[in-house]
Amino acid sequence: MSSTFTHQGFTLWLTGMSGAGKSTISDELMARFRAVSAKVELLDGDVVRTNLSQGLGFSREDRDTNIRRIGFVAELLSRNGIIVVVAAISPYRAAREEVRARVTNFVEVHVDCPIEVLAQRDVKGLYKKALAGEVGNFTGISDPYEPPVNPDVHVRTDLETLDESVGKVWSELIRRGLISQ
Ligand code: ADX
Repeated sequence: MSSTFTHQGFTLWLTGMSGAGKSTISDELMARFRAVSAKVELLDGDVVRTNLSQGLGFSREDRDTNIRRIGFVAELLSRNGIIVVVAAISPYRAAREEVRARVTNFVEVHVDCPIEVLAQRDVKGLYKKALAGEVGNFTGISDPYEPPVNPDVHVRTDLETLDESVGKVWSELIRRGLISQ
């Protein structure tokens, strides 16, 4: 598999609520891309917020700024043949569409999971805090999440295995001719 693998520059944009599985799916995608020696970078919201977007909060304005910054980096890398994997809630449709318009080969992946399941999983304990009013502007609880109307890939992490979700993304990349296999 490894020696014949080729790819174009593109951005896989994973949007979805906190705890839906964006980072888990990204990590698996990263492992697969690295296994075939692809040129790839990961821009994870949690990590970007500790450097490039340090100091930004969760108002609409700050989230949109965060998304524009991530989009800017994704644009630079993608147009130079790099694969970019983005994992960010990116709750506002308009900001995602703005980025789509600028980025070469933008592929939107909706990492979807019902809010009841997310609140039950609550890996970071944030849903409990948000429901108790201890965290404000929390996506899906006290802040909006605008799901993609027509995502390029739609995964349901409460119904699919990690392999199935990643497989859907991989198939779409092949279908679009962005990766060779
Ligand atoms: S985005 O809205 O700007 O795209 P981003 O993906 O970078 O968000 O960061 C989301 C992460 O910040 C969540 O996974 C969670 O750990 C943390 N977080 C802290 N406060 C909030 C909040 N009010 N709403 C959503 N996520 C929050």
